[in-house]
Amino acid sequence: MKYNIYIDTAATLARKAGEIIREKFGGDFERGYKSCPSDLVTEVDRRSESLITRGLSERFPGHTIIGEENSGYVKNITADCTWYVDPLDGTTNFVYGIPFCSVSIGLAQNGKMVAGVVYDPFRDECFCAAADCGTSLNGRTVKVDQSRKTLKEALLVTGYPENKKFSERLHRINYQRVAECCGNLRALGSAALELAYISCGRLTGFWENTLMPWDVAAGSLLVEEGGGKVTNINGGALSLENYLSIAASNGFIHEELLKTLL
Ligand code: IPD
Ligand code: CA
Ligand code: CA
Repeated sequence: MKYNIYIDTAATLARKAGEIIREKFGGDFERGYKSCPSDLVTEVDRRSESLITRGLSERFPGHTIIGEENSGYVKNITADCTWYVDPLDGTTNFVYGIPFCSVSIGLAQNGKMVAGVVYDPFRDECFCAAADCGTSLNGRTVKVDQSRKTLKEALLVTGYPENKKFSERLHRINYQRVAECCGNLRALGSAALELAYISCGRLTGFWENTLMPWDVAAGSLLVEEGGGKVTNINGGALSLENYLSIAASNGFIHEELLKTLL
């Protein structure tokens, strides 16, 4: 496969980072916060990110690496090859002892996602996608949910920003209407893993309107390569920018989801 070298490297590093996450889960670890007390960070986020960025830069010295804990923000990216790394997606779950977290590593070439890996260390599930090559889960091809074609049958998932200064953005969403119109609604706490679950048909649709590029870079490719659809919440192209919005689904329910959200 064309992008095998990237997928294999990212998957190996994600599994190694997953070992750190498993080893520290439920035990003692240093913790603190970033922009506000609910925006948590731990030594595990940082150790996982150093392991991944070291591995990627040794293997691909010319590539740009945007890691959540180092770069903080995405600036104007001009490099041909840019990696987006979320070393521990679901830090709040991790800190509270809920085993639903992931490691997310995605590669964009000239602004287009070409490789994505999302690893769930607690279930040892590794989701991989490469442009035009499909999505796999532990080596087996997966597809988005083919059976639910309307919103009322759909199991949806969303998430909420840690920083309350973004609350105003939540008001744009009609939560009551969505909850009334869909099959049911979840918030599982790891955007990357939620996208992976869309890609393999466990969930039907997802949206969030205050995320960062490393939350969605890999997962958006998983969904598209699994046969689903990804846009922003207005129906336009997903843009890997700070505080982005995203809607992802099996495709069948996409328009209905967008109409119901806003
Ligand atoms: C968070 C998770 C969560 C989403 C938050 C993200 P983090 O990432 O993806 O599901 O709702 O908005 O910030 O901080 O755990 O890497
Ligand atoms: Ca994240
Ligand atoms: Ca993170």
